[in-house]
Amino acid sequence: MLTFALKRRKKESMSKGKLAKFADMERFENVFQYPYSVVDDVPFDMKGKWREMYFHNDNPIVLELGCGKGEYTVELAKLYPEMNFIGVDIKGARMWTGAKKAIEEGQKNVAFLRTNIEIIDRFFAADEVQEIWLTFSDPQMKNPRKRLTSTYFMNRYRHFLVDGGIIHLKTDSNFLFTYTTYMVDGNHLPVLFRTEDLYHQEGIDEETRKILSIQTYYESMWIERGLNIKYQKFALPREGELVEPDIEIPLDDYRSYRRDKRSSKDTAK
Ligand SMILES: C[S@@+](CC[C@H](N)C(=O)[O-])C[C@H]1O[C@@H](n2cnc3c(N)ncnc32)[C@H](O)[C@@H]1O
Repeated sequence: MLTFALKRRKKESMSKGKLAKFADMERFENVFQYPYSVVDDVPFDMKGKWREMYFHNDNPIVLELGCGKGEYTVELAKLYPEMNFIGVDIKGARMWTGAKKAIEEGQKNVAFLRTNIEIIDRFFAADEVQEIWLTFSDPQMKNPRKRLTSTYFMNRYRHFLVDGGIIHLKTDSNFLFTYTTYMVDGNHLPVLFRTEDLYHQEGIDEETRKILSIQTYYESMWIERGLNIKYQKFALPREGELVEPDIEIPLDDYRSYRRDKRSSKDTAK
């Protein structure tokens, strides 16, 4: 067992590590930091101009929302040098890993935006983004408005995603996957691919397999625990009112619902 002093020293050295990362983030040229707390005070002049002002090309832009360490952003950018990738997350210390790697590997088609996804439409103009990746997003079982695949977020994405733009969800969470399936099917959004057990699914073409074999930090943790990885890919047309699913879904029995704090409920809408 760690003594109190040892624990404090460990915490101090961890926060020093974080401080050094935050200092790096300030100077990394591929990082843009606009958390909700500052966005009203610091002008952001790249909305609608990411290609012109940052990427210096006319290539499509793909976002990874809740990118954590940015594995998808960095690895997809290697696979598709003719496309641009932006990882978005609020946690700077995680994002640092991806931003540093992209700099070390000289990736000009990668950027990171540190902000709250709730205000994502402040950073991109209409039609500026072609695709969105949601990688192991928090299932937000208690709060549908916070789910990154809710109709609330879909309506936000519509402000900047091209009409019929593609959304990918890769997740361990049965709750989030089921919820998203209801959201997609209930609103008749075109489903391009769906599997509840990605790594045992047959008939996946070589290119898709290569993309889906990129593993994130959270993904490797869930795989270690023996959980199935689920994936779906759908299109988001701009027209049509979206209706929130009204369905009770069994809660995941791990993660947000910690065993010591379990709710008396077994399902949520
Ligand atoms: C479960 S982690 C997954 C991280 C990474 N995609 C992975 O698979 O390793 C969820 C990430 O989403 C970020 N996130 C969740 N909600 C967010 C929000 N509203 N705005 C910004 N980031 C958010 C968290 O900071 C966290 O890094």
